Amino acid sequence: MKLVRLIANLGYGSRKQVAAMFRQGRITAADGAVLYADDQVEHDQVRVDGDPLDPPQGLVLMLHKPVGVTCSTRDPGRLVYDLLPPRYRLRSPALSTVGRLDRETSGLLLLTDDGALLHRIISPRSKLSKVYEVALAQPLRGGEAERFASGTLMLESEQTPLLPASLEIVTPTQARLTLHEGRYHQVRRMFAAVGNHVVALHRSRVGGLALDGLEEGRWRRLDPPDIASVFGGDA
Ligand code: URA
Repeated sequence: MKLVRLIANLGYGSRKQVAAMFRQGRITAADGAVLYADDQVEHDQVRVDGDPLDPPQGLVLMLHKPVGVTCSTRDPGRLVYDLLPPRYRLRSPALSTVGRLDRETSGLLLLTDDGALLHRIISPRSKLSKVYEVALAQPLRGGEAERFASGTLMLESEQTPLLPASLEIVTPTQARLTLHEGRYHQVRRMFAAVGNHVVALHRSRVGGLALDGLEEGRWRRLDPPDIASVFGGDA
């Protein structure tokens, strides 16, 4: 791919704007030699204003999503993309969230521009586990764990029962719920189905990957071993 297109696809500007950056000598090789729009150079050898080019397609990030930001590219209010470098929102192929967390849910959110990986993670067939820490308005009554594990619980306006989920009781109003699917507002609707109400929700784990001390609002790139860990260590 010609450099001008590669750099434009990474969100640095339109092709016209990137062509102007070439003319201004802002695109160079690692040794400082000025590059031209038609050059074909190894990705890691390119510098923009002296900085290495953003990563190529195949980018995978994990973000510790705070409450109050939305998993969308255009909703009003704060978006998860506002927590990333602004160029990341303009990349082509697009950097998409891997599923969604509600605006009022915090925790581990993956983003990628790798469509095959995204589908592999969210596919119902992968049955990847997702762990949620839940704070409840009412004390648990007993019996919730059995109902969630039964594989027969139906949510309102759904056609098929939920897959068995495992509930670990931490305190009478705090629980850890492990799901193997991802339906709309699933955790909140499950607790509503047993007469309770979720007051705070946090996702701590996706497959074998945990936040591991990543601070709220911060993100980091995942490398191949991290990505493998999403699929590894998972029952
Ligand atoms: N279940 C919910 O209800 N909300 C989320 O954000 C994720 C799972």
